[in-house]
Amino acid sequence: MLYFNLPGCRSHPGHRLAGAANRARLFYWGQKIPKREESQEETVGLGGKGRRSRREKISFQPIWFDSLGAKSTCTRVETPDLSILIDPGVAAMQASFPASKEEKRQWKAQGRKAIEEASDVDIIVISHYHHDHYIWEDVNFYRGKTIYAKDPNRFINRSQRQRAEKFYQEICSRFGELKLDEVLSEAQERKYPDPLDELPLARGKDFGDYRERREELLRKGRKRFRRMAAEWNRYKVIPELSLEGCRVFWADSREFRFGGTAIKFSRPLFHGIEYTGLGWVIATVVTCGGEKLIHSSDLNGIYIEDYARWLIEEDPDVLILDGPPTYLRGYLLSEINLRRCIDNICEVIEEASTELIILDHHLCREPRFKEKLARVYETARGEGKAVTTAAEYLGKVPKVFEAEGYGGLDV
Ligand SMILES: [Fe+2]
Ligand SMILES: [Fe+2]
Repeated sequence: MLYFNLPGCRSHPGHRLAGAANRARLFYWGQKIPKREESQEETVGLGGKGRRSRREKISFQPIWFDSLGAKSTCTRVETPDLSILIDPGVAAMQASFPASKEEKRQWKAQGRKAIEEASDVDIIVISHYHHDHYIWEDVNFYRGKTIYAKDPNRFINRSQRQRAEKFYQEICSRFGELKLDEVLSEAQERKYPDPLDELPLARGKDFGDYRERREELLRKGRKRFRRMAAEWNRYKVIPELSLEGCRVFWADSREFRFGGTAIKFSRPLFHGIEYTGLGWVIATVVTCGGEKLIHSSDLNGIYIEDYARWLIEEDPDVLILDGPPTYLRGYLLSEINLRRCIDNICEVIEEASTELIILDHHLCREPRFKEKLARVYETARGEGKAVTTAAEYLGKVPKVFEAEGYGGLDV
């Protein structure tokens, strides 16, 4: 039987593989490599509703998103080299979502089914450990898969660390008949510089009258960060895993190559505003044949100017972006931060050559989000770019518009 070292990784060049060997290795892991036939391209077109700027190399399919009725950003991406399922998780909508409990339950079940049906892939990405981003209830889902996941040892809040411990305990037990405790290694002391030092645009932004309040929040946030960093230095280290039937790699800031496809993961990004207690996520950048797709994961925004700049510099053809949580406006989302998100999204629309932005997830949880983000949609129209929800991309009406009194697509 063939065995190859995977993954190909820039920081581990000895592991890099040519495409053919790579495909053989993927087969060894029990995954069928889908043949690319002409007819498959029908699932691939970028830019729905009459705008078909079809890609030759990268294809993608929104599997489940909030606009379909349950929380998720699950996306399937294919290249000639491999198939990837990003963030296979789904959770029911919050209490304020305008639908019955029974509908929410059904939509979650539909999402789960769609994810199961899309799971014949080579690679699974877990961008963070919120339940709408990974299947945690039954690790059999990961049988035969290679997982690229958020590093659970650092840049993680306490609740996600606890979830990660539970998850990898299950993975160890199911695929290695091991206890997680048996594979943990001693804690490693590291220095963690202030993450705001890496965000010069956000740090230098003039917030006018809000400056004092912002400084106070940053001070509190910095304190929280220091406390978290001290905890990371005490955590025993969860290692990457190579088990019979499941392998796990920490993906933060790394790049992996599979033949002509590169999968690059961002450094840990704040799950929202600077120092947010919600923790960190990693974004996924897939490049193949001069084409690029980015799945941002939960930026809840884009709040942070430096993240917008990074997206502009990456200049993807397709951007799958988490929009601001307008359902929390006036509660956890202030007017100033909503404006900031709108400014940053508009900047990406204007400056990147991205043709299609799927803007969804936190955005699609209340029926007036298009009014609140009117400037985003106007900017997109002016630039001739498509900014749409996953549901609309698939030719459907976002579930949240089915609430009484909202007509839907042309809001
Ligand atoms: Fe999240
Ligand atoms: Fe999420």
